Amino acid sequence: MAERLALHGGTPVRTEPFPRWPVWGEEEEKALLEVLHSGQWGIGGEKTTQFEEAFARFQNARYGISVTNGTAALEIALRAAGVGPGDEVIIPPYTFVATATACLALGALPVFADIDPETYLLSPTAAEARITERTKAIIAVHIGGCPADMDAFPELARRHGLKLIEDAAQAHAAAWRGRRVGAIGDMGAFSFQSSKNLSAGEGGMILTDDAVLAERCWSIHNVGRVREGAWYQHETWGGNYRMTQWQAAILLAQMTRLEEQSARREENAQYLSQELTKLGLRPLARDPRVTQHAWHLFIFRYDPNLARGASREAFIKAMNAEGIPCSPGYVPLYATKAVREGTLDNLHWVGRDASEIERLHPSCPAAERACYEEAVWLPQYVLLGTRADMDSIVEAAAKVLRGLEPEAE
Ligand SMILES: Cc1ncc(COP(=O)(O)O)c(C=O)c1O
Repeated sequence: MAERLALHGGTPVRTEPFPRWPVWGEEEEKALLEVLHSGQWGIGGEKTTQFEEAFARFQNARYGISVTNGTAALEIALRAAGVGPGDEVIIPPYTFVATATACLALGALPVFADIDPETYLLSPTAAEARITERTKAIIAVHIGGCPADMDAFPELARRHGLKLIEDAAQAHAAAWRGRRVGAIGDMGAFSFQSSKNLSAGEGGMILTDDAVLAERCWSIHNVGRVREGAWYQHETWGGNYRMTQWQAAILLAQMTRLEEQSARREENAQYLSQELTKLGLRPLARDPRVTQHAWHLFIFRYDPNLARGASREAFIKAMNAEGIPCSPGYVPLYATKAVREGTLDNLHWVGRDASEIERLHPSCPAAERACYEEAVWLPQYVLLGTRADMDSIVEAAAKVLRGLEPEAE
């Protein structure tokens, strides 16, 4: 008898949940109580400094500035890089909206360059083709935790006199040719939001090896103060982007698990890649210079020909019914109302013509194929499971590919 898909009332491949996220224990409880009893919940506490030092060291960076979240980290890094009204910043369309809105918040203009269809990472060639005399910076996003080409981008930035910012919001522990990401470019922005591989619910950090940029970021995140200055001495524009001691305490405790969790994700991801490839599903390609992948997302490419023309949406719906929490992921950022209107507003404010949006936001075919047709995401916590958990994903995919029918016209 033909097996019935769970979508059509059959028995799901699995009903038990994947590992819970976040993972916590006594370490977090102890650290939080220490903060509570210290009475130093914000300024004056030691946990933020300890976390900045520990995380910067872990990511092979000299300086770390802890902030409220990853969006703020990007905004601060851009501001410290001198990005302001009317400046152009090259970014990929395949990323979280914050990569673009951080530019918009400063009056700058996000300029989209397409991704490599094999890796979904910003293509250095496409980025170079978008450089004009107004370009100030490039944001290389390490999407899903896979480092962008950190040989090509620093060289490109140097050659054109641009600042290179790494959006490493998803890339804790990721490494390019043996060096952890974040301070390979001029600055890197991290997020510790709930879904991230290192999390305190919310939080962010800017990493850099440049002492001058580190001081600028510190000042911007702390209402324009300077380290040796008086309390009410404000030397530059700054906001209050300070991380609390609660967040830092949790993050220090979470860091004790990061190496082990990263190794587990790496092992499971490699197995899953191998097994899904056998079914014709294509995981994203990985450059051999990526010596550690953070696996914030496991992304593979669906092809309707594998299931008699059934759409990716039908595949995802059927996988969900089998108990596998996969999703389609992003839309190209230039197709979001917020980014389009924000860019038009900024063009207006700096006295430029609205028609420029055609040049700033060209359609990017590889990103569109990824967003609308191909990409299937599995979240990082799934990769913290066992070999049997991985096998259940493969089993569900095989079952769905065998049983899926194209939707009725
Ligand atoms: C690629 C990317 N950039 C930036 C951010 C923004 O970080 P946050 O949510 O901490 O503001 C996120 C995550 O949410 C992200 O995934």
